[in-house]
Amino acid sequence: MKVLGIESSCDETACAIVEDGQHLLANEIASQIEIHARYGGVVPEVASRQHLLAIVPTIRQAMDKAQVGCQDLDVIAVTNGPGLAGSLLVGASVAKALSLAWGKPLIGINHLEAHIYANWLGAITPEFPLLCLVVSGGHTDLILMHDHGDYSLLGRTRDDAAGEAFDKAARILDLGYPGGPAIDRAAREGTPSLPLPHAWLPGSYDFSFSGIKTALYRLAEENRIPSINNAAASFQETVVEVLIGKTLAAAQEHMVHQILLSGGVAANQRLRTRLKQESPIPVLMPPPALCTDNAAMVAACGYFHFCRGTQDSLDLDVIPDLNVITV
Ligand code: KG4
Ligand code: ZN
Repeated sequence: MKVLGIESSCDETACAIVEDGQHLLANEIASQIEIHARYGGVVPEVASRQHLLAIVPTIRQAMDKAQVGCQDLDVIAVTNGPGLAGSLLVGASVAKALSLAWGKPLIGINHLEAHIYANWLGAITPEFPLLCLVVSGGHTDLILMHDHGDYSLLGRTRDDAAGEAFDKAARILDLGYPGGPAIDRAAREGTPSLPLPHAWLPGSYDFSFSGIKTALYRLAEENRIPSINNAAASFQETVVEVLIGKTLAAAQEHMVHQILLSGGVAANQRLRTRLKQESPIPVLMPPPALCTDNAAMVAACGYFHFCRGTQDSLDLDVIPDLNVITV
């Protein structure tokens, strides 16, 4: 079964074709990073206009790459939340138009759930029960996954998301946009020497990253950052320590078979390396290109929804503040 996935929730216009939820036939992304870089962050109005320009060529490119015509596709899956309203609308409108024109079933996909499903595109098939750490620009969630479509939220950030904290820290350190990869690169040249606070929030699987960002800001204001690389390494190490500490504690308590890492921050080299080294149970993580926003994860997720009989009508709406996974 071939699923066409469409993703336009933020600043990447993406289209992918995935067979049987696991085999990637095409994965095209038109990135807007350079356009937004000059503003230091995503400008929603600019993002939706760019999606409009890029979406049809990106879909064409994916179909050409996979060498499929519309008659070969079985389902159209599209991210319908969470994300920027104007951006989501572009993907959802195109998906609805294609569904109507080609007579194909339509499925709206939760972007966070899609991030988790990037892990089904690898060589090892995940085995339930699973613990999922979803770390993106807008969310930081620890989710217990009992089966396909069956989730319990164990914890989430009470303030900034991990990716948001990386982006803000990069701004404080003048490392540019996007901040996560910039901190990742700078940290490789530094050592974690600054004392920054860990928000452990004892007795809870929730996270908090605003305190560490504020501590970094104060040090910068007081000119107490002699080395940007050391500051980047210190910030990254503190965030990674908290993410790993809580994830391993939850994995042990809930006796899961595997840990799944996903979301843009899952591309972070230090997080990947330390989690693999320190976890007593297997950790699966998509390659970095499938951690950040893409449509392959949307198509993979769409496949498993379709197998369970999910289908949406052409009334499918976008839900910009969709956050907890409710399916
Ligand atoms: O999942 P994603 O692509 O978009 C959202 O759904 O939000 O995540 C984007 C976030 C950004 O905050 C970006 O700075 C962060 O992921 N990110 C990273 C790395 N690559 C992307 N953070 C840390 N290290 C990285 N290598
Ligand atoms: Zn994302």
